[in-house]
Amino acid sequence: MFNFSKLGVPIIQAPMAGGTNNPLLASEVSNAGGVGSFGFAYSTPQKISEDLVATKSLTNGPINANFFVFSPVDLPAQSIQMQAIEALKNLPIEGEYSVVTPQAPFYPAIEDQLHPIWEHRPEILTFHFGIPSLSLLEKAHSLGIAVGITATNVGEAKAIEKVGADFIVAQGIEAGGHRGIFNPDGDDEKLSAIDLTKQLVKECKIPVVSAGAIMDGADIANTLKAGAVAAQLGTAFLCCDESTASPAHKEYLLKHHSRGSVFTTGFSGRLARGIDNEFIQLMNGKVVLPFPIQNTITASLRQLAVRVNNGEYQSLWAGQDYSRIRKLSARNLILRLKEELLITSTEQVLHKN
Ligand SMILES: Cc1cc2nc3c(=O)[nH]c(=O)nc-3n(C[C@H](O)[C@H](O)[C@H](O)COP(=O)(O)O)c2cc1C
Repeated sequence: MFNFSKLGVPIIQAPMAGGTNNPLLASEVSNAGGVGSFGFAYSTPQKISEDLVATKSLTNGPINANFFVFSPVDLPAQSIQMQAIEALKNLPIEGEYSVVTPQAPFYPAIEDQLHPIWEHRPEILTFHFGIPSLSLLEKAHSLGIAVGITATNVGEAKAIEKVGADFIVAQGIEAGGHRGIFNPDGDDEKLSAIDLTKQLVKECKIPVVSAGAIMDGADIANTLKAGAVAAQLGTAFLCCDESTASPAHKEYLLKHHSRGSVFTTGFSGRLARGIDNEFIQLMNGKVVLPFPIQNTITASLRQLAVRVNNGEYQSLWAGQDYSRIRKLSARNLILRLKEELLITSTEQVLHKN
């Protein structure tokens, strides 16, 4: 349904929930020939509507709107709640924050969030953490919107193909942000983006987009060589001039390379990869509430950390290869990636002959 070969450059700027995406970044990427995205997982319908209208006033290029498929969740026993709250109290950060157990509903209703999608019709709609209801998929298709869903293994990809999705986002273990595995308590094969892409291209008939530690044009060339139709880059766009990642997030991405990125459930209750910091270390072995309840109870702390510019208590989501990040405008980053892709593809052809 969506023709990736018509893109000026086979690049999707990854959807990144949590304030990094914005109309300027998405439109600059689209205007430069790629796909600009929004991570709308926690956004209100009004905010989604405003962002789409603003973006459409800046570009006629393709836009991707992304949502989480939340699983029903209950608050655990009172004693567990108390332990999780205790773990978050009196942390060594200057300023006031609150830790309060939230009440249901614990996450937004996707049907409400999708109203602005049906109205403004971005070209692409993607989902993370699972497969949405078939009626949502059918509605998207009836409006000419292509649907993509994240997979971390062949089983998930086959299920995605079976429900009639248009493409699969193959998320490797190197990827920054939340691991999109359907069942976070199940076995994780932890496949690299390139191995997963090769497996999905072999096993599935629908197009595969590859994600995870793709930082330059040579990485994109390798992923295309493995059979992907496009590369989805998150971390690479975080330090773009237009990115609204927090100043500390950008600083750590550019300067704190020896830390590395690690997985934690401490911020949200689900595994996500970010730059190692004091909070992640302190949460090791602590009781954590289920996703996304933990995300809600850490919100005040994370917001304070942004206000006082303290990177140790923010979720600094980043892929494994964040040390290769570049600080450029989105347009110049795409131009650079395109140039590097061309050079590597030409070299690959020459080597073959
Ligand atoms: C800051 C950040 C936020 C993210 N939020 C989302 C999201 O809301 N939805 C989603 O499908 N993927 C999300 N991801 C994962 C990306 O889609 C993608 O898998 C990842 O960025 C690829 O790895 P890379 O960061 O090394 O490029 C996020 C990634 C980052 C870095």
